[in-house]
Amino acid sequence: MKFSKTFGVAAALLGLANAQNIPSKVTILTPKPGAEVGVNGLGWMIDVVAEFSAPPTTSSAASAPSAASSPSTASPGYRRSTANPDDGFTPFLNSPNLTTFAAGPDPGAPGFVCLISGSTMNFAGFFELNAITNSDAQGNILEAYFTWYIPVTGLGSNVNITTSVFFLNSAAGATYTKNPATDPAVISNIATVSFFIFGDAASNITAPATTATPVTIDVFTPRGGEVVGVNGAGWMVDLLLINTDLSANVFAPINGYTPLYHDNFTDPKFAPGVSKAVPGLVVLSNTSTLAGGASTNLANLFQINAVTSVVNGVISEYWCTWLVGAAFAGKGQPSSLTIFLVNGTAPATINGSLPTNIISNVVSQNFTLSGGAVTPATTASGSGAAASPTSGADVLSVGAGSILLGALALLL
Ligand SMILES: *[C@@H]1O[C@H](CO)[C@@H](O)[C@H](O)[C@H]1NC(C)=O
Ligand SMILES: *[C@@H]1O[C@H](CO)[C@@H](O)[C@H](O)[C@H]1NC(C)=O
Ligand SMILES: *[C@@H]1O[C@H](CO)[C@@H](O)[C@H](O)[C@H]1NC(C)=O
Ligand SMILES: *[C@@H]1O[C@H](CO)[C@@H](O)[C@H](O)[C@H]1NC(C)=O
Ligand SMILES: *[C@@H]1O[C@H](CO)[C@@H](O)[C@H](O)[C@H]1NC(C)=O
Ligand SMILES: *[C@@H]1O[C@H](CO)[C@@H](O)[C@H](O)[C@H]1NC(C)=O
Ligand SMILES: *[C@@H]1O[C@H](CO)[C@@H](O)[C@H](O)[C@H]1NC(C)=O
Ligand SMILES: *[C@@H]1O[C@H](CO)[C@@H](O)[C@H](O)[C@H]1NC(C)=O
Repeated sequence: MKFSKTFGVAAALLGLANAQNIPSKVTILTPKPGAEVGVNGLGWMIDVVAEFSAPPTTSSAASAPSAASSPSTASPGYRRSTANPDDGFTPFLNSPNLTTFAAGPDPGAPGFVCLISGSTMNFAGFFELNAITNSDAQGNILEAYFTWYIPVTGLGSNVNITTSVFFLNSAAGATYTKNPATDPAVISNIATVSFFIFGDAASNITAPATTATPVTIDVFTPRGGEVVGVNGAGWMVDLLLINTDLSANVFAPINGYTPLYHDNFTDPKFAPGVSKAVPGLVVLSNTSTLAGGASTNLANLFQINAVTSVVNGVISEYWCTWLVGAAFAGKGQPSSLTIFLVNGTAPATINGSLPTNIISNVVSQNFTLSGGAVTPATTASGSGAAASPTSGADVLSVGAGSILLGALALLL
């Protein structure tokens, strides 16, 4: 594909130094500090959330590190426009078979840098799922998620490693050799975490549960009050399942739980229904337009299913992430997800009352699906907006390409 060449040109022309929205705050949700992650050295993930704020002034925002920490200084110049679509930030499924899946810039977030244990390689280009998870009434991005599933032992096994993430004011390269703490091009904080890659097989020893609901579900996005995605697509369901009863060992491999990445839309096994990785999971959407509507369990559509905590050899956390590629739940309207875990294998459909073997809390998440691209502001600021409408369109259509792939498969 000629994709990466096109993208490289587009990113350079976009003039990211004139960021309309600054990804000023970056947080690593997983791994947690000191956690043991993965099984047999693989099947873990890095999950990063970026919060955006308006540049403090229309012209010099990006050159001042952390200066954007006061969102109240919103300037009229930071609006989304068709000529400069969010400075290259776009929902994107960076599938491992694409040429963009490589060290270097993340096609969905050009300024993003991810370093590992002192290597100068920028791992940002390996983040598969890139979502826009909240925007304001004008369509300005407020929050985005970036996730990377590690399917190999290449980063080590039974070792401690450290990762750092941050944002530059321009497209990042395949390597990063500066000290981010002193680099004026860094426009966010630097988030760093050290953790351990668990290199052995997980325990299969189980005992009867000592509590009726040993599993706690935490949904990071979508959240109440958020306007998610672009035009009803490109949002994310990001959730954590915690087993609080280690001896019950709900996530034991012999129970059918296994880390998994899948995003092959032509594979009939990648379809709504029971998850092939987290068999007890149930995810329902009250506005789903897929076959079976609100009664169909969508748990198998999560691309990432990762082990994010192991305690004394027992898996205590699964983390499931779904980049929603199509506006399957509609757009420009409120929507709701209902999420829980059952003992054993979940039903493929749920009609009427909930199952009686639920072993987690039942999460009901209300949010709003974005209504689509927003009318450009009358005048966007700086040279970035004037840069190049065609290059901007390239970025958008490139991003939309993969999403469309998902859309076709999901809706057929
Ligand atoms: C990893 O780090 C922890 C905490 O610092 C330490 O206790 C442990 O020995 C380290 N493990 C290895 C294999 O270096
Ligand atoms: C799941 O069901 C099995 C068999 O009925 C039981 O032994 C186990 O305690 C149950 N697990 C939970 C978490 O309730
Ligand atoms: C647990 O069972 C799985 C197969 O279900 C196996 O691959 C794994 O090695 C087992 N774990 C241990 C510690 O034996
Ligand atoms: C990547 O994989 C998907 C799903 O199998 C396929 O449709 C697509 O053509 C592949 N793309 C490339 C560039 O190989
Ligand atoms: C995707 O699935 C199809 C159908 O099973 C298969 O032919 C194809 O090779 C798969 N593509 C990849 C990249 O695994
Ligand atoms: C779906 O849930 C949202 C949020 O609770 C609600 O506003 C909306 O009316 C529901 N839609 C349907 C079709 O039930
Ligand atoms: C729910 O309804 C669908 C369609 O009416 C049906 O195919 C399915 O078997 C039902 N599921 C359950 C658990 O009753
Ligand atoms: C979600 O909306 C429904 C009405 O559509 C309401 O009954 C429910 O309490 C809401 N849930 C939350 C967590 O706000």
